[in-house]
Amino acid sequence: MSSTDGPSLALPVTDPDLEARLRARMDEVEKALYAHVQSRFPFVTEAALHLMDAGGKRFRPLLVLLAAEAGDHPDADEVLTAACVVEITHLGSLYHDDVMDEAALRRGSESANARWDNHVAILTGDFLFAKSSELTALLGPDAVRIQAETFSRLVEGQILETVQPGPDDDPLAHYLEVVAGKTGSLIATSARYGARFGGASTEVEEALAAYGEIVGCAFQLSDDILDIASDSVESGKTPGTDLREGVPTLPVLMAAASTDPADARLLSLLSAPLTDDSLHAEALSLLRAHPAMDQARAYVVERATEAKARLSALPEGPVRAALEAFADAVATRSS
Ligand code: IPE
Ligand code: IPE
Ligand code: MG
Ligand code: MG
Repeated sequence: MSSTDGPSLALPVTDPDLEARLRARMDEVEKALYAHVQSRFPFVTEAALHLMDAGGKRFRPLLVLLAAEAGDHPDADEVLTAACVVEITHLGSLYHDDVMDEAALRRGSESANARWDNHVAILTGDFLFAKSSELTALLGPDAVRIQAETFSRLVEGQILETVQPGPDDDPLAHYLEVVAGKTGSLIATSARYGARFGGASTEVEEALAAYGEIVGCAFQLSDDILDIASDSVESGKTPGTDLREGVPTLPVLMAAASTDPADARLLSLLSAPLTDDSLHAEALSLLRAHPAMDQARAYVVERATEAKARLSALPEGPVRAALEAFADAVATRSS
């Protein structure tokens, strides 16, 4: 980590020149984000800025900037625009996600649904999607198509999460499909946009998109592990939300496959929605101590290795090293 002032980057970047460039560029992204999320109605602006002000890692725009470094013009204006597009799309999805998940806490602040109500949260999410579409139009028809396809996949993933797998479906395969849609899609597009608008070759763009897709899935699976393992100070969210909402995430699916009689209590708790506070706390503590947590972590590390293998299309150097380090950091992240 550099000693330079300013917020730390969500990516571990060891090359000082690259880190300084990304930091300066992220400052520009931050200013541009505020400029883009404005309405002529002060209340709409206030609602839309509510979660932007609350913080967030800004991981997707950073990935756009880093992937752009694999091209010959990473400083192009389009790269900055694309970075805003993916963060504003992500931001909109958080407003909707907190309604779906009935979450009260986001980025360490009240969620919009808790601060106002579901109507305000849903419509603010829609406003943000509209703003990101407006911006995407500046990037041309191909970018609009990619954004539309990405958004379809994100929404499909969110909807699929609410549907039980069929009797003949493998629950893990179903869940991995959810994860790829709701999170892999936008992170893949972040890497793709960066490569494309930074002037990388088609081969590098495809490699980075494939890398982003796998890193995005690993990112979500790490988030699932953190939902069980971390406290709200670390995550800025309420722990055990997935469990309470009955979303069977990776560690739960792995624990549910256990045939060990010692797991009978946990399995019976997991078989029904956990809305009762004391049953929820009991399941959370049994899960935290369960070997499925390490099994899930090992699975995520394998995905990170798979993601790094996609980078062989890039020349060795600081950009590739930062992308490799990032895949590793996603697999072991603690916030
Ligand atoms: C949260 O994403 C939603 C997931 C896809 C797991 P982030 O973890 O990137 O959230 P912020 O932007 O840092 O708040
Ligand atoms: C978030 O999924 C996915 C999107 C916002 C598209 P989660 O519900 O698992 O994420 P968190 O834990 O609330 O951030
Ligand atoms: Mg959620
Ligand atoms: Mg959710």
